[in-house]
Amino acid sequence: MKLSERIGLIKPSATLAVSTKCKQLNAQGIRIINLSAGEPDFDTPDNIKQAAIRAINDGFTKYTAVGGIDELKSAIVDKFGKDNNISYGKDNICVSDGAKHTLFNLFQVLLEKGDEVILPAPYWVSYEAGVRYAGSTPIIISTAPTDYKILPETLKESITAKTKMIVLNSPSNPVGSAYDSNEIEELTEIALAHNLYIVSDEIYEKITYDGFKPVSPAALSPEAKKKVLTVNGVSKTYSMTGWRIGWIGADEQIVKAMTKLQSQSTSNPCSIAQAAAVEALNGSQKSVETMVDAFKNRRDYFYNAIINIEGISCFKPKGAFYLFPDISDLYGKRFNGKEIISSIDFSNLLIDEAKVASVPGIGFGDDNFIRFSFAASMEDLKEAADSITNIVSQLE
Ligand SMILES: Cc1ncc(COP(=O)(O)O)c(C=O)c1O
Repeated sequence: MKLSERIGLIKPSATLAVSTKCKQLNAQGIRIINLSAGEPDFDTPDNIKQAAIRAINDGFTKYTAVGGIDELKSAIVDKFGKDNNISYGKDNICVSDGAKHTLFNLFQVLLEKGDEVILPAPYWVSYEAGVRYAGSTPIIISTAPTDYKILPETLKESITAKTKMIVLNSPSNPVGSAYDSNEIEELTEIALAHNLYIVSDEIYEKITYDGFKPVSPAALSPEAKKKVLTVNGVSKTYSMTGWRIGWIGADEQIVKAMTKLQSQSTSNPCSIAQAAAVEALNGSQKSVETMVDAFKNRRDYFYNAIINIEGISCFKPKGAFYLFPDISDLYGKRFNGKEIISSIDFSNLLIDEAKVASVPGIGFGDDNFIRFSFAASMEDLKEAADSITNIVSQLE
């Protein structure tokens, strides 16, 4: 069968592939501790679930406005004002089926064949695919040697006549690195001087540790607000990954184009999920605090356990819920005679022998690493840490 050339440009999501393998093994009765998923392990808070149940009972079950209901757009506008100091209006907002969908639409409406997009690596798996599917070229800049952040001078050097955009994700998936306000200011200034768009993926903004406060580049100036595309959603903050609600705050013309694309593809995001998202944003935020406190304890435990393993080093995350340890010192060693030479080998070793699922770093643009989610119970994290330690100690 001859499929389109376009679909040949992208690979399946590395993270979803591991989660699927893990579910299959679990179904065969093999217990795997799943540290591969990119989602909080908590249930969606009850006030949010009740809002969805009310929506169903009230018959709020039909098509809505393509880019989201007014009530949700207003809640997002208020959120941007309150949390991010950005004064968007409702015309600056388009709600989609999750931030992944938002990013896909965004790349489709802004990028052309031949455009270059700067992706600081390690990056979230779907940026690269989204850019490629739009016919553009990702320019991947390794940030591992510079605290997992692109330096202003590196950004300057990476810009060519074809550069259209840079994607920033702070706090980041998979590392949990985060830019402080000076760094955001410097990078924004350079991007604006070269007329670049900045995609600011702020989906982990509320999941931060040790008092870290992220800064939104769109808040810096009216010029920045024109060129910054602020992406966010309810998936991570409110443990609502299955509900599929994400959004963009951006220039009106871009929002109109994204809404047009959506009108011909998916139409509105689920009406019931939109009602739930209104409650998530406008209702009590207590559950967010509780969840972040739990993540912090787990981060502290799991980070200390992982850096104690000989041959593994790791950045201590400032946000999100992942560890991204460097495992490259283990390359060349063998388990039962089988040599480990890549992140895929190591991830396979862990799932087969330690019964722990992780995601190979290659999917995030760096083969020296592996990603663990610490959005799992403390018991599972303890068992996983012991098991990984045990398997690595057997490497020769
Ligand atoms: C950095 C980042 N951006 C965006 C998303 C997409 O989230 P969703 O589509 O669930 O809103 C994810 C999910 O893993 C992510 O890690």
